[in-house]
Amino acid sequence: MLNKQNISQNSFLNPGTQTEASKPGDKWKISNSLQLSKAQWAEVLIDIYEHPMSFPGSVSPQAGELLRALVVNIAPRNVLEIGSYIGASTIWIASAMSEYERRNKLCCIDLFLPHTDNPWCPGVELIEPLSYIKNNIKKCGFQSFIELYQGDSKDLIPKIAKQIHSTIDFVIIDGDHSFMGCSSDFNLVEPFVSLGGYILFHDTFPDYCGVDGPAITLETKIFTNRDKFEVCQIYTEPLNFGFALLRKVTN
Ligand SMILES: C[S@@+](CC[C@H](N)C(=O)[O-])C[C@H]1O[C@@H](n2cnc3c(N)ncnc32)[C@H](O)[C@@H]1O
Repeated sequence: MLNKQNISQNSFLNPGTQTEASKPGDKWKISNSLQLSKAQWAEVLIDIYEHPMSFPGSVSPQAGELLRALVVNIAPRNVLEIGSYIGASTIWIASAMSEYERRNKLCCIDLFLPHTDNPWCPGVELIEPLSYIKNNIKKCGFQSFIELYQGDSKDLIPKIAKQIHSTIDFVIIDGDHSFMGCSSDFNLVEPFVSLGGYILFHDTFPDYCGVDGPAITLETKIFTNRDKFEVCQIYTEPLNFGFALLRKVTN
C-alpha cells in the first residue's frame, strides 16, 4: 500500500522541475499553452497569475491545465470547489465546464477574507477577493453557471448540497489544509458525491507543499477504505504540491 511514508521511499517521486528554493516575490511560470491560447479565460488566468498573491497559494498553471483536462473529460454536471482563494482554480474549472452543454453549476466556497500580511508578497493587499473573483468571472462570461458562497465550508457544504437537488459529480478540496479542516470537508461532502463521481484533493505531498492535512486525510480516511474509492496520486509541476484523485465506486 502506498502511504505517506512509502511515498517518500518511492523510487519515482518526482520532486518537480523547479529545484531552487522558492522565495518572496516569486511567480508561477505561465505554461506555453496558456500563453498561446486566444481564449478570454486564458487572458484572465494570466492576469491572475500576474497578481503577486497567486504564488504559491493558487494552483500552479501546470496543475491548472490538469484540472481543466480532467473536468473537460469527466464533464461533471455539478461541481463543488472548496477553497477558491483568488480564483485561479475557479477559472480553470469554469473554462472546462464552458466546453460542454450538460453542465449545471459550479459552486465555490471560501471565507473570502481580506488578504493582508502575506509573507510571499510583503506590502501587497487584496482587501476584497470576492469582488476580484466576481469581476474575473464576468470578464470570462461565466457568471451564468458559477455561484460563489462566502463562509465556512463546515456550514456551507450541507446547505449547498441540499440546494443543488442532485448529487455532485466532481469536488475539489483545497480549503482548510489542517487535518481537522480537510477531513471535515471530506466527511461532509462525500455522502453527496455521485456514485462514479470524483473528489480531487490538492496539496497532497507534504514534503513539497508544506501542509499535511490532505495527506493524513488520505492516509486515515481513504487508504483504509479501498473498497469505496479508487485513488490515484498525481505529481504536479513545477513544485509537486500534488493531487490525489478519488473515484467513488460504492455508496
Ligand atoms: C490554497 S487556497 C485555495 C487555492 C485555490 N483553490 C486555487 O488553486 O486557486 C485555500 C483557500 O481556502 C480558504 N479556506 C480556508 N479555510 C476555509 C474554511 N473553513 N471554509 C471556507 N474556506 C476556507 C481560504 O480562505 C483560502 O482562500
